[in-house]
Amino acid sequence: MGAGMELKFSTLAPEFIAEVSGVDFSRPVDRATVGKIVAAMDRYAVCVYRATALDDASHIAFSRLLGRLEVAPALFGKGNRRLGHAELFDAGNLDAGGNILVDARRRLYNKGNALWHTDSSFNPQRSAYSLLLAHEVPPAGGDTEFADMRAAYAALPAALKEEIEDLVVEHWLWHSRMLAGYPQPTAEERLAKPPARHKLVQIHPGSGRKTLYLAAHAANVVGWPAARGRQLLDTLMEFATQPQFYRAVAWRQRGDLVIWDNRCTMHRATPFEDTVHRRDMRRTTVYEDVARV
Ligand code: OGA
Ligand code: MN
Repeated sequence: MGAGMELKFSTLAPEFIAEVSGVDFSRPVDRATVGKIVAAMDRYAVCVYRATALDDASHIAFSRLLGRLEVAPALFGKGNRRLGHAELFDAGNLDAGGNILVDARRRLYNKGNALWHTDSSFNPQRSAYSLLLAHEVPPAGGDTEFADMRAAYAALPAALKEEIEDLVVEHWLWHSRMLAGYPQPTAEERLAKPPARHKLVQIHPGSGRKTLYLAAHAANVVGWPAARGRQLLDTLMEFATQPQFYRAVAWRQRGDLVIWDNRCTMHRATPFEDTVHRRDMRRTTVYEDVARV
């Protein structure tokens, strides 16, 4: 095995976000380089790779080198699937025919991405990485913002840290969807995606630092009365998404790829003229390798 490609880093936020160059995504990425890409994820929670020239197939193939991929459910109001690969989650504003979405229900569903969240916390098995690839970017707006949950945890008052240390939170997909204005889930939808439980305070495997595992999907605190749990989660969400904890990453062109660690960050989509401009974004999602934790 060779030494792999040489990665170069330009830090956007210390120990949090970096732009990385030196990886040639136009050919299969070798093992040694994958190791460096993973090491970069351990050092920075968010890595930005510009103008990668990845397409659907090579996006999926590269993602597989990081672990097992989640499959996007056909459910979820997405109706007829636009993308021909089950491994691709559609974060764009286009319909199956490639036209700008006008359907109100689907636009509402996409609005869920505008709430601070981490991907797939509503699943019992967490997701380690998301890899979001730009296919078309709007002329203005549509950045993605990332918040550092390790920094947020570290800044919590000591008494609050103590209070939340052992709490378990229930994450429910439909909770965030309803927050975004989506109608009550149908019986079928509820069955397909029941709530999942996760510890609120976790050790982030890559950095060894304590972190908050939070999201708009966080619905209630296990064992607490609903109102008290809601109040705590609202307080923590508000605290953790203060401006000092987050940064925007701007999408510049087709091929831009952002990889983030879902176990120590939250993210949200920011507005753009979504009924006028096209924004075609496709995501793969890598399961956490439980053996590694
Ligand atoms: C996602 C997501 C935000 C965006 O794909 O998981 O939240 O800016 N995307 O498209
Ligand atoms: Mn997301």
